[in-house]
Amino acid sequence: MSLHTHVSQWLALDQAGHTLPQGLYVSREAFEFDTQVMLKSVWLFACTVAHVKQPGDYYLFEMAKTSIIIVRGRDGEVRAFHNSCAHRGAKVCTALTGSSPRLTCPYHQWTYGLDGRLLAARNMPDGFDKADHGLRPVALENIGGLLFVCLADEPPTIDRARADIAERVEIYNLDRCKVAVQEDLVETANWKLVMENNRECYHCDANHPELLKSLSTSGFGKGLPGDDMAATQGERFEAYLDAQHAAWKEAGLYTHLVEFPDDSWHRVIRLPLAEGVHSQTLDGKPASRLAISSFPGTEDSSLSVWTQPNSWHHFCHDHAVTFSLTPLAEDRTLLRTSWLVHEDAVEGVDYDPENLAAVWRATNAQDSALATLNHAGIATDGYRPGPYSLEEKLVDAFKTFYVDNARAALALKEASVTP
Ligand code: FES
Ligand SMILES: [Fe+2]
Repeated sequence: MSLHTHVSQWLALDQAGHTLPQGLYVSREAFEFDTQVMLKSVWLFACTVAHVKQPGDYYLFEMAKTSIIIVRGRDGEVRAFHNSCAHRGAKVCTALTGSSPRLTCPYHQWTYGLDGRLLAARNMPDGFDKADHGLRPVALENIGGLLFVCLADEPPTIDRARADIAERVEIYNLDRCKVAVQEDLVETANWKLVMENNRECYHCDANHPELLKSLSTSGFGKGLPGDDMAATQGERFEAYLDAQHAAWKEAGLYTHLVEFPDDSWHRVIRLPLAEGVHSQTLDGKPASRLAISSFPGTEDSSLSVWTQPNSWHHFCHDHAVTFSLTPLAEDRTLLRTSWLVHEDAVEGVDYDPENLAAVWRATNAQDSALATLNHAGIATDGYRPGPYSLEEKLVDAFKTFYVDNARAALALKEASVTP
C-alpha cells in the first residue's frame, strides 16, 4: 500500500501538455506530499547573500515541517542548519531575520557557533562530547549571490545551473546589495498555480498595465530566440529584437537563452525593455541613483532568472527583485518579494522605496487575484485538465518538472520503506 495512494494515482493520470489532475492542486494529501516529499528532493531558493550580509546575520527559511537557519559565519561563508536544538529539539532561532555572534537556544541556553558547532552546554554528564552535538547541516549553494537549499540525502547535481546563472548574474554584485524593501503576500491558491501563473505572459496584456509600461512587447515568455516573431509581432519588431541582441553581444552582455537545459531547473534570459526605458519602473527611469551592475552605462534591458520549482528574479542596472515561494496549505502560498539596491544607496536620497516597489507590488497583486481565480475554478466539480497554449510552454516545463520529480521522489520514498 502506497504512503501516498491518491498522489500516485493522480500522477499516473497526468496528460502531456495539460494542467494537472484536480487532486494535485486542491487536496491536503498532495500538499503534505509536496512539502514532505517532492519539495525535499530538489533545490529550493531561500534568499540572497544580501539577506545575510554580515557575519552573524541569519535568515529563517520555513516551509511546513521544515525550518532552516541560513547564517553567515565569521569566515564570511554562508551555511545552513536545521533549526532544531541538539539538546531537546527546541527552535534555536525564532525571528525571520536577526544578527548574533552566536546562536543560543532560548530553552536551556545551549550555545552554537556560527559554523554550527556546539560551544557550551551546562551540567552534562561525563563523557558528553560537544563535538557530537552540533546543529545538523543542510546543503546550501550560493549561485551568484542567490542562496539555494536542498533537504535530499543526495542533492541533485547543479553544476550546469551554477555555471549558467553565476556567470550572468555576477555583474549585478549581489554581495554589494542590501534589501531595501521586502513584502510577504499570502495568495489564496495552491503553490503550483502561483508557479504556473508566473511561467507565462499569456495573461499579461489584459492584466498587467504597470508591468507592461517598461517591458518590451516581447514580454516574458514571448519573443524568445527561435520563436517566429515576424509572424506574431511583425517584421519591425523582429528587426528591433535582432538589433538588440547584436548590440548586447557587441557590448559583451551575454544574450544566449538558457532554457531548462537537460530537463534541468533553470532558465536565464536577457530581455529587452521598451524603447527608451532604462529600468522596470513606472516611469522607466532608474529606481536608484547607484548602479548595482558593473556594466558601464545603462543596459536598457533586464536579466531574468527562473528556477524550478519556487523562484524567479529580475535584474536591472540599478536594482534587483527576487521572488521566493513557499506552500503554506493546499490553498495558501507565501510569495516573498525582495527589492535590492546598492548597499550605499540612501533611502529618500538615492531611491524612493515606493517607486522601487511599485511595478512588482501591483503586478504581484494582479497575479495573486488570477491565481485565486484559477484555484477556485479548479476546486469545482466542473474542472477537467485543460490544454496549454503555444505561449505556455514554460508552464508545461514547470508542470513536467513537478511530475517527473514527484514520481522520482515517491519511488525513492517507497523503496526506502521497509516492509
Ligand atoms: S532544547 Fe535547546 S537548550 Fe534545551
Ligand atoms: Fe502575471
